Amino acid sequence: MQVIEGHGARIPSPGFGTMTLKEDLCIELVEAALHLGYRHLDTAQMYGNEREVGEGLRRSGVKREDVFVTTKVWFSRLAPGDFERSVDESLQRLALPFVDLLLIHWPNAQIPLAQSIASLCKVKRGGLTRHIGVANFNIAMIDEAVALASEPLASLQIETHPYLDQTKVLAAARRHGMAVVGYCPLARGKVPGDPVLQRIGRAHGKSAAQAALRFLEQQDIAPIPRSSKRERLAENLASAEFQLSEAEMAEIAALKRPNSRIVSPPQAPPWDS
Ligand SMILES: NC(=O)c1ccc[n+]([C@@H]2O[C@H](COP(=O)([O-])OP(=O)(O)OC[C@H]3O[C@@H](n4cnc5c(N)ncnc54)[C@H](OP(=O)(O)O)[C@@H]3O)[C@@H](O)[C@H]2O)c1
Repeated sequence: MQVIEGHGARIPSPGFGTMTLKEDLCIELVEAALHLGYRHLDTAQMYGNEREVGEGLRRSGVKREDVFVTTKVWFSRLAPGDFERSVDESLQRLALPFVDLLLIHWPNAQIPLAQSIASLCKVKRGGLTRHIGVANFNIAMIDEAVALASEPLASLQIETHPYLDQTKVLAAARRHGMAVVGYCPLARGKVPGDPVLQRIGRAHGKSAAQAALRFLEQQDIAPIPRSSKRERLAENLASAEFQLSEAEMAEIAALKRPNSRIVSPPQAPPWDS
């Protein structure tokens, strides 16, 4: 298993994304993913499946200390006091005393960043998470968050796939020593049908999905693909087993195109509008 590093955090790659996975299916897939060899689980308060992710982890029998668990605080829970309550609720649902990485899921312009970063650092000092980080922050927000934080920001989680050029924000994360975790690495299912990725994958006896994941891994990004199918869990994990050439990396990078972002910022909550 490959590992990416940021401020002492060692994040196994690839991880298993769990958004949309619910109830027994989520428990079974988390357990299956860990049996296959995944050692990094990505959940969030907003996914409504922390209980199932924790249960899958326990049922797997894999030692807790061998698994890197990430959860996130939703953007409507960032105010002081509410932030801490949100983390307590997440840990109760996961049935864990701490997570490995706690992220601010999205910034919220209505809540001063100084306050949410102070809460993030406070829960780390309180031992509720081993590492902290942010998701969906732009370069200015990353710079501001790092300047405000009294604890190192170990990781940035952002949308990354072959169609989206994230070069600038990646450089900002690197400048601050943050490990980058890539979400929607399969562009939510658009990648497997891509003829360029299919051809490059085929040349290595691999699939288009594996080529896209490998493209991220060779940039030191930990992708967190999600699948509801066991056979694809194994396929995505096996992305770590081959090497793309420089020419292949350049050809995949050339797939980037404007307006290819899949995920939009969440809607402002009702008390904002
Ligand atoms: N921080 C954030 O704001 C944020 C936002 C979005 C996502 N995330 C995290 O990132 C994870 C991944 O992103 P995502 O779930 O949005 O999208 P994704 O992983 O890019 O794509 C998932 C889709 O690809 C399909 N798929 C998976 N493996 C495949 C394969 N080998 N061949 C063909 N199709 C395959 C899945 O279908 P099947 O289920 O049918 O296999 C599913 O429809 C999430 O689960 C979540 O943990 C974070």
